[in-house]
Amino acid sequence: MKLTVATLLLSSLAMTATAAQADGEATYNSACMACHMTGAAGAPIRGKADQWEERQEKGMDTLYDHAINGFQAMPAKGGQSGLSDDEVKAAVDYMLEPTL
Ligand code: HEC
Repeated sequence: MKLTVATLLLSSLAMTATAAQADGEATYNSACMACHMTGAAGAPIRGKADQWEERQEKGMDTLYDHAINGFQAMPAKGGQSGLSDDEVKAAVDYMLEPTL
């Protein structure tokens, strides 16, 4: 059991070391995907440029702020208060990258 925990810790440390900055994709996959892949509750879908266009007009700072602090049906940090602000910002950047 102890060994498993140590292994997990080590592998997450290794991941942190290789990703020089916060890993937006990993954060998205763990904290944002449930809503932003399906559009649950009206969430804009990752990579769908037309769904993000209007929101981007508010400016990235506003989008970061809304992701970190919440906005209407969007829970603060996707409900994962353990995430750092930088991790949430990286996830926003990842979400805005066009997938097609
Ligand atoms: C429980 C579902 C849910 C989760 C989990 C979630 N979101 Fe959202 N998100 C929403 C919904 C719904 C909206 C649309 C809110 C609206 O416009 O009323 C939204 C909107 C947004 C917006 C646009 C805000 C704006 O000003 O237009 C951003 C950016 C965003 N989410 C980022 C994230 C990030 C980053 C994560 C993960 C850390 C995340 N969301 C996790 C439901 C979720």
